[in-house]
This record gives sequence, structure tokens and C-alpha cells, in this order.
Amino acid sequence: MPSPESSLLQSWHDNADAWIEVIRSGAIESRQQVTDQAILLAIMGRQPERVLDLGCGEGWLLRALTARGIDATGVDGDVTLVEAAREAGSANVHVASYQTLAEARVDIGRDYDLICANFSLLQQDIIALLAAMNALLVPGGTLIIQTLHPWTVAAGDYQDGWREESFAAFKGQWQPMPWYFRTLSSWLNALDMAGFRLVGLQEPQHPQSAVPQSLLMIAESR
Ligand SMILES: C[S@@+](CC[C@H](N)C(=O)[O-])C[C@H]1O[C@@H](n2cnc3c(N)ncnc32)[C@H](O)[C@@H]1O
Repeated sequence: MPSPESSLLQSWHDNADAWIEVIRSGAIESRQQVTDQAILLAIMGRQPERVLDLGCGEGWLLRALTARGIDATGVDGDVTLVEAAREAGSANVHVASYQTLAEARVDIGRDYDLICANFSLLQQDIIALLAAMNALLVPGGTLIIQTLHPWTVAAGDYQDGWREESFAAFKGQWQPMPWYFRTLSSWLNALDMAGFRLVGLQEPQHPQSAVPQSLLMIAESR
């Protein structure tokens, strides 16, 4: 039986084309209204010159950063998404699984001022990966993670554990995706264990929404 981690990456292989369509058609309202802008502002606020986008998907954030004069590199475990990012104009995009990155078995460059992960840390074991990313940062470099806000998706079960996303809200054919729910303290512990110091925590929200659209953590390498 495959592990949830390998089923998770497999779901991205299966869902890559549907994901490209969803992102490029602007079908996710919370991204259009709140979270795309939130991560861009958080990144630009740190004034980085070189950024690594971890789990970059089809590359929308790489393109947005490049348009703002930033030297942006991407990495993702799905070949179809990486090819889509390249075809859309991003020259520096690597194919690598988080496992190979955690074990430093692949060269994706180093001395980044900032590494961001936008809704792309979905697996259980993130500490070794984040520690490996820490090693690719300049001293005191920044890590920015945007993720689902745990309080809005807990659904009455506020403890770490595997859940399943069916993508029922989206049009098209989708394979279910296992993903690992993490409490706020679990996120903060993981950052600490990977050698980061939290310096900012945001809860991006739309003025007409009663709940935040995401949790956004800004941390520095220590
Ligand atoms: C929800 S998408 C987010 C993509 C992009 N950051 C964005 O904002 O649109 C999650 C991404 O994480 C990548 N991913 C998930 N698990 C991975 C793994 N184990 N190794 C490498 N990439 C992985 C997927 O391929 C996918 O592109």
C-alpha cells in the first residue's frame, strides 16, 4: 500500500492539467481576492533579490516575481507543472521531489535571500525539508509559508493528522489528495526545529469574509 506521502505527490501528477486550468482561469476566489496578493506583498516587503519558490506548481508566483525584477527560481515534484511553468516563460525551474530536496540529493542553487512555499507544504514530514531549505538561504535569510488557516479547516477536529481533499468544489476530473492537517503550534514547532525564528504571522482576510483565507508565516534563518 503506498504511503500517504507518495499518494500525495501522485495526486499532483494526476491532477496537474486540471490544476493548471484552475489557476490560469482564476477559478479560486480566495486566491484572486486575498492570498495571491498576500504572499506577493509579504515577499516584496523583504526586498529580496533571489527567491526560491518551493512547490511552485505551474509558476504563477515565479512570473509575478520576475515581473517585479526578482531573480526567481522554482522547484516542484511534478513534471507537467514544471513544463507549464517553463513554457510560460520561467527559465529556472527544477523538477525534484521534497524527499530528494530534504536529502540534498539535487542541486537547485543556493544563497537565496528568500524561500517561499505557497500552499505547497501538504505532507507530514516537513522538518527535514525545511532544514534543507534553511541551508540554501543566505545567513539570516527569510522563509515565507502561506497555508490553509488551521482554524478554518479543522472542522471540529483540531489535531495533526492526515485528511483528504476531494476537490469537489472544482470543475473537471480530479483524483483525491491526501494532505496533512497541522495545528498552529505544530507549524511553529516545525519552524523552530528546522532552525527558523518566526518574525511575522498574518491572517489574510477579505473585508466581506468572516474568516481568514490563509495563515501566512514569515520566519528567519537563525
Ligand atoms: C496546491 S499546489 C501549489 C502550487 C503553487 N505554489 C501555487 O501557489 O499555485 C501544491 C504543489 O506542491 C507540489 N508538491 C506536493 N507534494 C510534493 C512533493 N512531495 N515533492 C515535490 N512537490 C510537491 C505539487 O506538485 C504542487 O505543485
